Amino acid sequence: MAETKKISEMTPDEIKGEVKKAYAQVAQPTQSSCSGSAESSCCGPSESSRVALLEKLGYDGKVVVQLPESVTESYAGCGNPVALASLQEGEVVLDLGSGAGLDMFVASEKVGQSGRVIGVDMTPEMVEKARENAAKLGRTNVEIRLGDIEDMPVDDESVDVIISNCVINLAPNKAKVFTESFRVLRPGGRMMISDLMLEEPLPEDLQNEIAAYTGCIAGAVPIDEYERLMREAGFTSIEVVEKVITPYRSVVSVNIAAFKPSK
Ligand SMILES: C[S@@+](CC[C@H](N)C(=O)[O-])C[C@H]1O[C@@H](n2cnc3c(N)ncnc32)[C@H](O)[C@@H]1O
Repeated sequence: MAETKKISEMTPDEIKGEVKKAYAQVAQPTQSSCSGSAESSCCGPSESSRVALLEKLGYDGKVVVQLPESVTESYAGCGNPVALASLQEGEVVLDLGSGAGLDMFVASEKVGQSGRVIGVDMTPEMVEKARENAAKLGRTNVEIRLGDIEDMPVDDESVDVIISNCVINLAPNKAKVFTESFRVLRPGGRMMISDLMLEEPLPEDLQNEIAAYTGCIAGAVPIDEYERLMREAGFTSIEVVEKVITPYRSVVSVNIAAFKPSK
């Protein structure tokens, strides 16, 4: 039997390949998407607990139950960035790692027909599923693009608000995600992120396990490192809005806000 490579022996492209394989399964949840030996945190809850979990994260249950199951069944977030974002009619929103689309669809109602929501995701199966979901919901103000958030298929200064839910921990080059985010935001634009971060170093067995990486744990970095990368990309007024303990040892779920200065 082929031995699984340690993360330290993998190239960034190999790591992304494993992330894509894992989220192709999350997009098709009849197959087991959380089969790794490590604890996983963003592989999606069971059917029965899904709406309850979303309500606990602050989503409006009345909105969530109206979404097709094909949206909620592949939800793999760890927070509620739309709740943080104070979205206004007419704004252009970019969702990094948009998955099956739940946050995009909640955001698209808030920005209305005069606004727009763009999702970027690198897993073709997720992009296809989100496009099908947008069609089912008739959301003509939502567009999903296949691409890497380390090299976004998005124009300079074309976005008012960036949201992202449990994704940046999965990017091998987080500095690139933040410099790209800064590039595409208009001056005065804002970034509202929910993500998993570390309060203490992970136990060594998890640090090198790819299943822990695809499960949003082994790629998580300390909160101060996350803030430093944002600051180095040019963001200001960086604020940890909320920090929630998770069952996954040293990992916390964090809501963080940051701004691109006005010119
Ligand atoms: C944990 S899921 C979260 C999905 C969605 N935000 C949600 O809340 O349901 C992570 C998603 O990010 C995508 N992703 C991970 N790394 C990415 C990257 N470098 N570029 C684009 N998408 C990425 C995966 O394909 C997957 O759909």
